[in-house]
Amino acid sequence: MQLLGISAALAAFLGAGRTAPDSDLLHRRRGHEVPQYTVDPAWNVIKIAGGLQGVRTIVFDTEGNMLVSEARKGISIHTFGADGCVASSTMLIPEIALNHGLALTPDGKTLYASSERAAFSWSYDAATKTVSDKKTVVNGMDTGIHSTRGLLVSPNAPNLVMLQVGSNSNLDMQSAQPATGRAIIKIFDMDKAPAADTTTRPTASGDDFKLNGADIHIDNPAEKLNFLGDPTKARDQFYGYPNCFSVWDPTPFQGRLKTGDHFVIDSSTGMTDATCNDKAIKPRLTFQAHSAPIYNSFDSDASNMYVTFHGSWNRQPATGFKVVEIPFTKTEAGQYDPVAPADSRDGYKDIFGASNPGSCTANGLTMSNCFRLTASTWEPAGRGLFVGSDNSSEGEIYLLTRKAA
Ligand SMILES: *[C@@H]1O[C@H](CO)[C@@H](O)[C@H](O)[C@H]1NC(C)=O
Repeated sequence: MQLLGISAALAAFLGAGRTAPDSDLLHRRRGHEVPQYTVDPAWNVIKIAGGLQGVRTIVFDTEGNMLVSEARKGISIHTFGADGCVASSTMLIPEIALNHGLALTPDGKTLYASSERAAFSWSYDAATKTVSDKKTVVNGMDTGIHSTRGLLVSPNAPNLVMLQVGSNSNLDMQSAQPATGRAIIKIFDMDKAPAADTTTRPTASGDDFKLNGADIHIDNPAEKLNFLGDPTKARDQFYGYPNCFSVWDPTPFQGRLKTGDHFVIDSSTGMTDATCNDKAIKPRLTFQAHSAPIYNSFDSDASNMYVTFHGSWNRQPATGFKVVEIPFTKTEAGQYDPVAPADSRDGYKDIFGASNPGSCTANGLTMSNCFRLTASTWEPAGRGLFVGSDNSSEGEIYLLTRKAA
């Protein structure tokens, strides 16, 4: 899970056309072909960088340079040449504790990055490609099986930084108490940092589900896309975890519940399907169980959201290992919203993914012999969608561009 759905306004950039039309060919001549993958016919894909380590998050600075968080290595910076290819790559912040989160303020002058236990800030100068004045802005985050912390700066209120902490087990019942600081997204006011933590709320899902003794884990619970609201106002909302889960395949529920509804697997907690559907905010859209959505971004006019699915381990056949496109629309109230209704099972489509995802875990359930997509970033200048991959052999970055209509 990730900070899905918060960042509609992040995509309010328009393409300035820094596109190199023949970049596809140039990269191919350099031997960067993309063989075992399927690409939607409306898109081109090239591998724009390789030989990195655990690419997790990609951001662009105000000069168009690409900053990449490489898990257990640090933050690297990459410049582009006139041909659109990467011209230089250097380490900006070599720190092995950094393992996922990376964000820049809209003015490009403050950089945030996260480790398992802490979040840090630096002053950043895009012209000289240097950082200074490191500060620890959040400390003491809990540890557990989920060690990465997504970071997002509110584009409209850049003093607000959102930080996500996962559960520490599959069913982390204690995380129902916000004081644990797990299965939660917190909002920190950096004008008051360190020490000002304003908000929260849990989201997550689980594996190994049974319903009345029957194994339903292959297609339930759903992965969720939640609309979390305006970070300057929305506070302390309950999205269900660890009591309420969302239906992907409604078959086991025999007509009682539909896709996107909440259900319980343990009524001894006092929660029932009915109380869940009454009290917990339902997802705005759901995805195939076990997809492991990990990052999202919008295109230039927010007409589509792109979500990377890191891929599964506890499903046979494996699923994920792809990027999906979710058509969005702008409502009369000025809010961005998926086109598909909340109970849809086809509100998104695959645009780039492993040709045979079912074989991606053939060498071991927690290993991947395919790429594992992570970052999803629409380049502010409008060139296209940059996606990262972090499998154990190589950190890679692919660039997806729409073909001319
Ligand atoms: C990682 O992904 C690449 C392609 O993106 C693939 O060729 C390679 O086999 C994968 N590595 C592992 C260890 O499976």
